[in-house]
Amino acid sequence: MLVLGIETTCDETAAAVVERQADGQAKILSNVVRSQTDEHARFGGVVPEIAARAHVDLLDGIVASAMKEAGVGYGQLSAVAAAAGPGLIGGVIVGLTTAKAIAMVHDTPLIAVNHLEAHALTPRLTCALAFPYCLFLASGGHTQIVAVVGVGEYVRLGTTVDDAMGEAFDKVAKMLSLPYPGGPQVERAAAGGDPTRFAFPRPMLGRPDANFSLSGLKTAVRNEASRLEPLEPQDISDLCASFQAAVLEATADRLTVGLRLFEERFGTPRALVAAGGVAANHAIRSALQDVAAKAQTTLIIPPPALCTDNGAMIAWAGAERMALGLTDTLEAPPRARWLLDANAKAPAGHANSRAGY
Ligand code: KG4
Ligand code: ZN
Repeated sequence: MLVLGIETTCDETAAAVVERQADGQAKILSNVVRSQTDEHARFGGVVPEIAARAHVDLLDGIVASAMKEAGVGYGQLSAVAAAAGPGLIGGVIVGLTTAKAIAMVHDTPLIAVNHLEAHALTPRLTCALAFPYCLFLASGGHTQIVAVVGVGEYVRLGTTVDDAMGEAFDKVAKMLSLPYPGGPQVERAAAGGDPTRFAFPRPMLGRPDANFSLSGLKTAVRNEASRLEPLEPQDISDLCASFQAAVLEATADRLTVGLRLFEERFGTPRALVAAGGVAANHAIRSALQDVAAKAQTTLIIPPPALCTDNGAMIAWAGAERMALGLTDTLEAPPRARWLLDANAKAPAGHANSRAGY
């Protein structure tokens, strides 16, 4: 089975061709990603209108490159999959409409993939992981703990009630005048800082649910930064290190609870899987390693190029759905919001604009 996957929900324009063999093994034939970071950097964040226009300009060329690199003709495709949400709606429309046009012209089935489902199924693309497993997804738009029970069977065990984790890193970077995207900058600055200099709050620590909250922590960093103005480089490093230490402790606590909730409902997870840009953070990785070891499970973090937004994960999610006969019609709508777990309710106190909880 050969599937073309298209991803345009945020600021990466991406396309890939993935082969799924009869035994469920995967082969990535091409995976072309063009990040728009430079277009957005001077605004300190992703500007939806700029992203949508860039997707329009770039996508045709990216799809052509992915097909060429894979050495595959459109007539050979078993399906074309696009991320139909959740995400910035202008970009989602560009990707989904392109996929519909290809599906129509080449008389190929269309699969409208949930972007979060694609992140959730990525470890089955990289290492054929069996269900059920526990996913920790932390990116610029999402912070969730999800029980991945089967294709299309997801139970959200925890989510952020306000900012996404990557968003908090980006906002802290911005208030300290570090360049965008802020996550890697904060991690770098933190490496030379004192994590004990500022006693920032550890939001939600000890709560029986597995939800996250990051906006109070972000405000605490802002207050401390304004108090210290003008900031010396060492202040910036210490603020970053103290912020990151608070994120680490909160993450370890929330995931420990999440894994306990998982165990109660689904038994021992086959693995703890981390995905999303924040999973690139070395300090977070080692915190996750400890959490997994204590819960007697294995930590799996797909390679960075498959952890962050890409077309291969969309193609793979499409292939998994196709294998179960789950295709969509050309009426499939683009969605700004699309819960992975249809039964999940917004947590109490939820006040998020960007994370799509
Ligand atoms: O998954 P991703 O590439 O894109 C989406 O948001 O969908 O994640 C990007 C996010 C940004 O907020 C970025 O600051 C954060 O991941 N990030 C990091 C690190 N690298 C990227 N956060 C903390 N530490 C890092 N090393
Ligand atoms: Zn993503």
